[in-house]
Amino acid sequence: APRYPRYTREEVGRHRSPQDRVWVTHGTEVFDVTDFVELHPGGADKILLAAGGALEPFWALYAVHSQPHVLELLREYKVGELSPEEAPPTAAATGDPFAGDPLRHPGLCVNSQKPFNAEPPAELLAERFLTPNELFFTRNHLPVPAVDPGSYRLRVEGPGGRALSLSLPELRSRFPKHEVTATLQCAGNRRAEMSQVRPVKGLPWDIGAISTARWGGARLRDVLLHAGFEEEREGEWHVCFEGLDADAGGAPYGASIPYSRAVSPAADVLLAYEMNGEELPRDHGFPVRVVVPGVVGARSVKWLRRVAVSPAESPSHWQQNDYKGFSPCVDWDTVDYKTAPAIQELPVQSAITHPRPGAAVPAGELTVKGYAWSGGGRPVVRVDVSLDGGRTWRVARLAGERPPPERAWAWVLWELQAPVAAGAELEIVCKAVDGSYNVQPDSVAPIWNLRGVLSNAWHRVRVSVRD
Ligand code: HEM
Ligand code: MTE
Repeated sequence: APRYPRYTREEVGRHRSPQDRVWVTHGTEVFDVTDFVELHPGGADKILLAAGGALEPFWALYAVHSQPHVLELLREYKVGELSPEEAPPTAAATGDPFAGDPLRHPGLCVNSQKPFNAEPPAELLAERFLTPNELFFTRNHLPVPAVDPGSYRLRVEGPGGRALSLSLPELRSRFPKHEVTATLQCAGNRRAEMSQVRPVKGLPWDIGAISTARWGGARLRDVLLHAGFEEEREGEWHVCFEGLDADAGGAPYGASIPYSRAVSPAADVLLAYEMNGEELPRDHGFPVRVVVPGVVGARSVKWLRRVAVSPAESPSHWQQNDYKGFSPCVDWDTVDYKTAPAIQELPVQSAITHPRPGAAVPAGELTVKGYAWSGGGRPVVRVDVSLDGGRTWRVARLAGERPPPERAWAWVLWELQAPVAAGAELEIVCKAVDGSYNVQPDSVAPIWNLRGVLSNAWHRVRVSVRD
């Protein structure tokens, strides 16, 4: 067998365009597919999305590749092998607190490198119901903590000053494993559209700060009851979470949810250690994170180190002075964070993932695709689509099974086919309706807020139809 040169993942990651050559990996093999890009039956644009990184998460979206002739074809382009992973640099050795962050797929659309914030390419977002882990959006406020699973302990403050300290094997064996398919959405999803009305402070997320996974772990309810808490608690109580990631002053990332949600068997709140059947990836909270279905992503605390029940919400900056909604009339001189409640359940949302803004689509039958979701377990009951800016409407076809009532934690993917004529300019619009008949606002300006959160106006995509 020929001996191939060895390359690191970082070296492969430098080959992302026909000028720099287009390299990809499959397993531990490296391929230079520059000459295949234009021959690809799925299009050059698609193959370039994976350039510089692993093919597997993309091929998970398109089952057409799981045929022997695809791998045979790929073999012709082999140029190397991946070198065994080198020990990653550490924050201590380099002085860069982010030096120990994991390596990510170069196909992600990065909004900020340090801390790492990235979303999947929009056109792939809704190709599959479950988002592959490598493409799941990542929202980090701080460096990713390096956790040794052997010495990891989760501290659960019980009533009367008692506390539980749970190792990973204890969390796995003492509590039944519960699985929930849930969508996580960041409060800042679609913020970029809000900045077009007036500048806002925050990462310029497009439509991809939302993803769906099947989460596995212990129910938070079971752990709280095991720690000695009762199902019913009089008065107002909150369950506060702390992460292992801390800011320069030592304050950990933190958030809280109401006690009633934490103990409700119907709310499905998890202490998750699995994501899509694999152990949690480092970026998504390894080894344990909270997953609060139907609630803004900010409450699903990653790298969980401590759980405590308190009469007050989490004192964390992210609970008290961020992730709240305000009137368009409030600016940075007048904002008083104490006057608004922390965001918990999110409003109804939808977006068009295909085609993309500015695309030139072929005349004939156009397929419009997207996602829709609502907070609080409210199901999406309908998605309306317009091709003329909202003058006339059609009803999209919703894919997937009907979720159990009041526990619709996951998005629905939808599709609409319609004939389009050459030369036409289309303004495609979508809007979703949830089980409480909540609808999305038609425009952004009236829901503008200084932090750019809760951006859920009708999504509009302009495209032209080729002659
Ligand atoms: C179809 C190869 C990367 C998306 C195909 C087919 C082959 C192929 C041989 C036709 C299969 C058949 O119909 O029997 C490859 C190779 C790749 C690669 C060798 C990498 C070196 C990708 C990536 C994506 C993608 C990264 C998506 C991001 C598609 C799609 C089709 C397709 C959507 C279906 C096209 C259609 O049926 O109209 N690919 N592919 N491919 N590929 Fe890829
Ligand atoms: N937990 C910790 N410990 N640190 C964080 O920065 N970000 C939160 C939440 N949990 C965060 C966290 C925010 S704002 C969101 S939207 C989700 O994690 C994103 O989860 P993901 O990165 O797995 O998509």
